[in-house]
Parts: sequence; structure tokens; C-alpha cells
Amino acid sequence: MAEMEKEEVVSVLNRILEAELAGVVRYTHYSLLVFGFGRIPIVSWLREQANESLLHAQQAGEWITTLGAYPSLAIGKLLDSHTFDTAAMLRESLEAENAALKLYRELLALVEDRSVALEEFARQMIQIEELHAGEVDKMLRKPGQAAAFAPPPKA
Ligand SMILES: [Fe+2]
Repeated sequence: MAEMEKEEVVSVLNRILEAELAGVVRYTHYSLLVFGFGRIPIVSWLREQANESLLHAQQAGEWITTLGAYPSLAIGKLLDSHTFDTAAMLRESLEAENAALKLYRELLALVEDRSVALEEFARQMIQIEELHAGEVDKMLRKPGQAAAFAPPPKA
């Protein structure tokens, strides 16, 4: 098994940690801004996403310390678009989820055939995040419309 570039792996894991922490803040923020008939299920879905992002941040952070490195205390980019529109929130979420997915793919490329456990983690996260992005995409479609809102990125 080839050696993995530990510094590069830690750097990607730190970017994942920061992106997932930004997700916690973003989903929590959105969950405070949903009004109207659909409020209850949408707020609970957004809070579930915030909790899931926190879990992912913790998992990435645990990997960083497992590798003997120091976890970042920074947080990924946050954009306050002052939107109360659920569709706009979902479009922003889809963009952020695809950015996170790209980071997990970068991680996979670095650890593939180098660390079984990290490779497994990266693959699992890619599966989870892809299904998640697919779910958001379906929420953005008009009822009765099967075509994807934005087709998933390749790879
Ligand atoms: Fe995530």
C-alpha cells in the first residue's frame, strides 16, 4: 500500500470540517426564517440537516486528531442572502452540498489504495452527500416534473 500524503489529507479534512461547520450555521439560520403553511416540516428538515452537518464536522475532526494533527477552528464561507424564500435557501444549500461533495472526492483521491479506513470514510460520505444533494434537487422540482433541477456533478 502506497504512503499517503498526511499533510495534504489533513488539509482536505480541515476544509471539510470548516465546510460542515458552515453547514451547521447555514441550516440553523435558514430554519429560523421559514414562515407560512409549510413551516413545521421544513424547519424540522433544516434542523436535521444542521445536526447531520455537525456530525460530519465531528467525524472529520476526529480523523484529523487520529492523524495526530490539530483541527481548524475556522468556519467555511457563509453568505447571508437575506432570503425568506425556501427555494432560494434550497438552491444555496445545493451549491454548498456540491462544494462539500467535491472536498470528499478530493479526500478519496488522496487516500484511495492508501488507507482502507479513510477510503471507506470518504466513500461513505460521498454516498451520503450525493443522496442528500439528490433529495434537495427533488425538492426544487415542480410537482409532476421528473427532470433534475441541476444534474449531479460527474465522478
Ligand atoms: Fe455533510
